[in-house]
Amino acid sequence: MKAVYPGTFDPITMGHKDLIIRASKIFDVLIVGVALNLQKNPLFSIDKRISFLEKVTDNIRNVTVDHFDGLLVDFAVKHGTNIILKGIRAMTDFEYEFQMAQINQNLNKEIQTLFLVTNQKYSFLSSGAVKEVAINRGSIKSLVPDEVHDEIVSCFRNGMF
Ligand code: PNS
Repeated sequence: MKAVYPGTFDPITMGHKDLIIRASKIFDVLIVGVALNLQKNPLFSIDKRISFLEKVTDNIRNVTVDHFDGLLVDFAVKHGTNIILKGIRAMTDFEYEFQMAQINQNLNKEIQTLFLVTNQKYSFLSSGAVKEVAINRGSIKSLVPDEVHDEIVSCFRNGMF
């Protein structure tokens, strides 16, 4: 079975990595879909967000990274799957995700959205929190994967933003 796991990943967090690892043990193939999502005004470029994900998933043989602009349901169809995988941290996530799942169902009735509950170690964590801490020069060591930690920190230190 194949699934797509979409997100803005601005940037990838430990919560994302944990979910990707768990999902890679459930599905035969997992496509991580990095949304261009310009309306969300991402801090990191699409190339950087993809490159962080590629580094983190490099040694997971059934995970690939792709990007998309446009509708998620079309991205899923392009990859030959009807399964969209999402992570849920709390009830607040659920309300939003529930609505998205129904919109996607409306757009394409074949599409099924499945939810994985976030590891409780990371239920507080979001890309927004990572940016907030890093911008204020706090440590993000335990918040982002080791493989990309130094590069993310250097983006903030070198005044890239
Ligand atoms: O990590 P995020 O920011 O919560 O991910 C949001 C994402 C990329 C899953 C969402 O913005 C999305 O699906 N974008 C593609 C456009 C789309 O298909 N929207 C759903 C119908 S409104």
